[in-house]
Amino acid sequence: RTPIRAILAATDALAGERVVVGGWVRAGRVQCGGTMAFLTVNDGSCHASLQLVVEAAWVAHPPLARLATTGTSVLVSGVLRVPPGKSKERIELGVEAVIEAGEVDDPAAYPLPKTRQLKLDHLRDFLHLRPRNDTIAAVARMRSELTFATHSFFRELGFLCVHTPIITTNDCEGAGEMFQVTTLFSQAQKADRELKLKLAAHHEHDADDDEEGTVSFESDFFRRQAFLTVSGQLQAEAYACALSGVYTFGPTFRAENSHTSRHLAEFWMVEPEIAFANLQDIMNYAESYVQYLCKWLLEHCMEDMEFMAKTHDKSAIERLELVSSTPFERVSYTKAVEILMGSAGSKKFQTKVEWGIDLASEHERYLTEVIFKKPVIVYNYPRGIKAFYMRLNDDQKTVAAMDVLVPKVGELIGGSQREERFDILKQRILDAGLPMESYEFYLDLRRYGSVKHSGFGLGLERMLLFATGLDNIRDVIPFPRYPGKADL
Ligand code: 4AD
Ligand code: MG
Repeated sequence: RTPIRAILAATDALAGERVVVGGWVRAGRVQCGGTMAFLTVNDGSCHASLQLVVEAAWVAHPPLARLATTGTSVLVSGVLRVPPGKSKERIELGVEAVIEAGEVDDPAAYPLPKTRQLKLDHLRDFLHLRPRNDTIAAVARMRSELTFATHSFFRELGFLCVHTPIITTNDCEGAGEMFQVTTLFSQAQKADRELKLKLAAHHEHDADDDEEGTVSFESDFFRRQAFLTVSGQLQAEAYACALSGVYTFGPTFRAENSHTSRHLAEFWMVEPEIAFANLQDIMNYAESYVQYLCKWLLEHCMEDMEFMAKTHDKSAIERLELVSSTPFERVSYTKAVEILMGSAGSKKFQTKVEWGIDLASEHERYLTEVIFKKPVIVYNYPRGIKAFYMRLNDDQKTVAAMDVLVPKVGELIGGSQREERFDILKQRILDAGLPMESYEFYLDLRRYGSVKHSGFGLGLERMLLFATGLDNIRDVIPFPRYPGKADL
């Protein structure tokens, strides 16, 4: 099977070639008294579709009209040719055999008919079918490219990709926004357990004294409360403190009850962690990484970017071009607050700005869209609004944290230099009220060969919002999870 992308990229050079093509009919019409069908077929390899010309004589089953129904899948063989006469197609496929076809049971019920373009929020009711929509398909290709670009960027730097766990007992951000992992014991396990308890009573030995390796019914599988990770950072730090430059890239989970267009309960995060690096260093890494991603999209996804610019956000391409070639602004939190307070006359914010507040999305966007008109790195945040692991600055009031803010989105990246001093870190864990036993391993990293180190996390979906210009984060992840939505 030849991907349609390869055929369209080659145009007439392939005329005369015999190929096999498979895809889904986007639109079809039967002409010439029912003897010929023209099918516009897309296989997801690129935005554009290929025109298939099918003559009734070649098709035993299904009838041409069924084949031309939107949503039908086809696998055909034929010969590529330049269309005769005037045609907007540069190349088409003259079908000689329909190898396979998957019919649409009830065309009237198909949720994506060619006559009715569903809006993105309606498409969320059909998460399983929406990849057949042009926008969702373009996002999927761009998401795949960003994933590949990420591995490429860090590999070029010599960093190792480390797979950190999804189930953990730590709350990396210390915000308590975690999903707990519990066990559903099967009936058989329950029966087995009851039998064991009876036997134990009979032998008068403690029922909870199970031999090593068996699971007690009362306690949970992990014997401690376990959660879905909010960030792979702490484990990435363990590896950075041995292997120098590492990154982890995986799903992370937040039980934030927020119904915003920028938050998900499950999102993918890229988290580099670098030994011997300080705050300045990771600001540099973060800037080059974001620029690398923008350049990569411009180089590998132009067709999809042009589609996004045409349909959703006309400045999408200029925004990527600007970001990939302009140094980011760098401004301390204190300075950023001064700027925002200075703007109070001209701009009314919903949340009042004063030193010590956590910047809200409206403040972040104002800084990057109105004041600087480019990405902004805000650094040295108040300690009170940031996580326990961030390195305390000499002023004792701020920590060596940095956020990268970008137009359309606000916060794209959050990172910091980590607290490498044992006593200070221990005190900060205590002050945060975190259970010390879960952080002993983390303190060990400061007991044994502690090292200055820093890292950051980029939310992949936020990067996609920025790149595509789409408005809702639920449309840039295949199967979004948010309050009330985990089906499929
Ligand atoms: O700022 P955050 O919470 O930082 C961390 O988790 C650090 N442990 C990262 C590190 O230093 N290794 O999250 C990092 C980024 C944010 O800047 C944002 O892009 C994204 O993750 N993010 C979310 N994306 C979608 N939905 C949510 N609920 C998100 N929360 C954070
Ligand atoms: Mg953050």
